[in-house]
Amino acid sequence: MDFLKQIDLSNVPEHIAVIMDGNGRWAKQQGHERLYGHNFGVESVREVLKGAMELKVKYLTLYAFSTENWNRPKEEVEGLMDLLVRTIGGEIDELNEKGIRLMTIGDMNGLPDSCQVELKRAMELTAHNQDTTLILALNYSARWEIMAATKRLAEEIQNGTLTADQIDDKKFSNSLTTVGIPDPELLIRTSGEHRVSNFLLWQIAYAEFYFTDVLWPDFKKEDLFKAVIDYQSRERRFGMVSEQLTK
Ligand code: FPP
Repeated sequence: MDFLKQIDLSNVPEHIAVIMDGNGRWAKQQGHERLYGHNFGVESVREVLKGAMELKVKYLTLYAFSTENWNRPKEEVEGLMDLLVRTIGGEIDELNEKGIRLMTIGDMNGLPDSCQVELKRAMELTAHNQDTTLILALNYSARWEIMAATKRLAEEIQNGTLTADQIDDKKFSNSLTTVGIPDPELLIRTSGEHRVSNFLLWQIAYAEFYFTDVLWPDFKKEDLFKAVIDYQSRERRFGMVSEQLTK
């Protein structure tokens, strides 16, 4: 079935966020170590990025490494960092060919130096691209982000450059690591888990959630299209009643 044909291209989310889950279980099903699943997960990243470009999605955010992920076995953490450095380094030309800008959210200072260097290089070399922005959430947690924003605002109040009543929705949003990026309209989580896991808690206030049992290494372009079809079947009311939307 051609799912792309079923999509109304004039009503595609501007920003899609994805919690990529199930690499470990997928690897286990194949009789391999968890890293085998992460390696195949990179193929799904490529697929979904391709699909997002076909739909002209402007922002795609992928939860690649949470602050909680440091608690995983040392060899898995090292393997993931290594995979990230290799993948990013190897993709810069492709990102430029396709007009994709790379950005990150999260606490980059907590990543290994090699990772920081490679990410910085890739971000600089792709900064001019305008078609789609790929945002990797790395060493990210929404509570960390919200606390960091709160501390920054408190400091501004302390040094007299801000008053408490100047803090509104916009000011707070602009203090988050996602400053300048519109909130995601669609949040996808793979592997049958129905949790948000400390991801973009502020930004998903009005997002539609799409959960699928498909494990991340099996998640392909068509699965992204299915999620968008499902999204388009819903009515987004932002607290209003249906009649107000048609006016
Ligand atoms: C979740 O599966 C997956 C991750 C924590 C890592 C995701 C990383 C990649 C797909 C590679 C990233 C590469 C780039 C370039 C973005 P899990 O390990 O939690 O699976 P499980 O729930 O089955 O154990």
